Amino acid sequence: MALLWLVILCGVSSATALDNGLALTPPMGWLTWERFRCITDCKTYPSECISEDLIKRTVDMMVIEGYRDAGYDYVGIDDCWLEKTRGPDGRMVPDRERFPSGMNALADYIHSRGLKFGIYQDYGNLTCAGYPGVLGSEQLDVDTFVSWDVDYIKLDGCYINATEMDSGYPAFGKLLNDSGRPILYSCSWPAYQEDIKMMPDYASIAHHCNLWRNWDDIDDSWWSLERIMDWFGDNQERLAPHAGPGHWNDPDMLLIGNFGLSEDQARVQMAVWAVLAAPLLISADLATMKPEFKSILLNRDILAVDQDPMGKQGLRVYKEKKIAIWTRELFDGSYAVAFVSHRTDGAAYVFRYKLKDFKLPEQIYDVQDLYKEESNRSVGPNEEFAVKLNPTGVKFYKFIPRSTEKVRTNEVVIIDENKLGK
Ligand SMILES: *[C@@H]1O[C@H](CO)[C@@H](O)[C@H](O)[C@H]1NC(C)=O
Ligand SMILES: *[C@@H]1O[C@H](CO)[C@@H](O)[C@H](O)[C@H]1NC(C)=O
Ligand SMILES: *[C@@H]1O[C@H](CO)[C@@H](O)[C@H](O)[C@H]1NC(C)=O
Ligand SMILES: *[C@@H]1O[C@H](CO)[C@@H](O)[C@H](O)[C@H]1NC(C)=O
Repeated sequence: MALLWLVILCGVSSATALDNGLALTPPMGWLTWERFRCITDCKTYPSECISEDLIKRTVDMMVIEGYRDAGYDYVGIDDCWLEKTRGPDGRMVPDRERFPSGMNALADYIHSRGLKFGIYQDYGNLTCAGYPGVLGSEQLDVDTFVSWDVDYIKLDGCYINATEMDSGYPAFGKLLNDSGRPILYSCSWPAYQEDIKMMPDYASIAHHCNLWRNWDDIDDSWWSLERIMDWFGDNQERLAPHAGPGHWNDPDMLLIGNFGLSEDQARVQMAVWAVLAAPLLISADLATMKPEFKSILLNRDILAVDQDPMGKQGLRVYKEKKIAIWTRELFDGSYAVAFVSHRTDGAAYVFRYKLKDFKLPEQIYDVQDLYKEESNRSVGPNEEFAVKLNPTGVKFYKFIPRSTEKVRTNEVVIIDENKLGK
């Protein structure tokens, strides 16, 4: 019974979504940009330039190293894959030196390994790196993407007035829909509007896009990661309600496995992204991935939090003395809780909280450490819960009510009365 109502709830919340049946949980995969940027010089950077070789070796690693089987199933090429001019027929031409086999062959390679093919374009005259954008060639470009068996399009927003995006992104989405091929649609629409302090229409964005970049690009540093976490926390009231099955806020790629984050900081990103129901797009060289970072990316319990079928985005519920607490309610009645330290003063201090400090319903919980370093414990109303936090580190727990079934039933009754109007 409880399960039935939850299924109905999911149906209700996705009724406003882009109805292409895709991204019922946040998309997972790999994308070139953060790690490989616009490297086009394959002589100097033979294993890092944006090329079919990079994509193919990544595909191989995703299969062999278990990323695909953990759910990372899209492989995406970001900017810098095009020739600088279109062909005589007006079509986009992939760079002839770096993609000599063409996009159909690359798509076949990706699909034959059980993965899906993502590609980047831009709604304006040019892409951000100066390659031809789709403006004026939208139909031809959608036809071309379909002929290349593309499964995911990230549409950026350089070289176009942000005021035109409210009509432009839906129009391009309609061409994707009319094509008949299911193509995941990633929009950069709100990011450009937030940038000029124009209030994005998130209801419309969630109706037309499967995921959308809300804000600035992430860079390879703790500083950049902190800014993004702060921004998503500070703006959560207007962002979180628009996330749900089929439509997700996107705080940008995972830095994990690159140069800029320590192991503790990488754990922070994974935990907070899971609470945010964020798309999980690795942007790292899988060939040089260190085991400690790989185990963060492949942590099944944390991936299950991110991919929770209810699709409810979590919130930052506490921020004091450079500690932030983030919580997310899950389908089975439990809660994911991340304690994040923004402190840099050296010692790993113990902090003590009560359930009401982080706004969890007052009941008895069994608590499981999702990074599996601590043994299970329990906590009840008015008891202190002690967490030892490394500087710029995290503890990430699942709080499981002793009586899950009761909580689930209560919740369903509330939903039944208020949301379904019965
Ligand atoms: C796009 O290019 C056309 C033709 O060159 C030009 O008229 C138009 O102003 C450009 N639009 C933007 C947003 O740059
Ligand atoms: C963008 O469009 C708006 C409304 O049409 C206009 O007022 C504004 O000047 C344009 N901005 C730029 C940079 O072209
Ligand atoms: C197009 O939209 C309709 C109605 O929203 C939906 O049922 C269908 O699955 C969509 N098709 C594609 C290919 O996106
Ligand atoms: C901790 O709790 C989880 C969830 O209830 C359970 O799966 C796991 O076996 C427990 N671990 C130990 C060491 O008891």
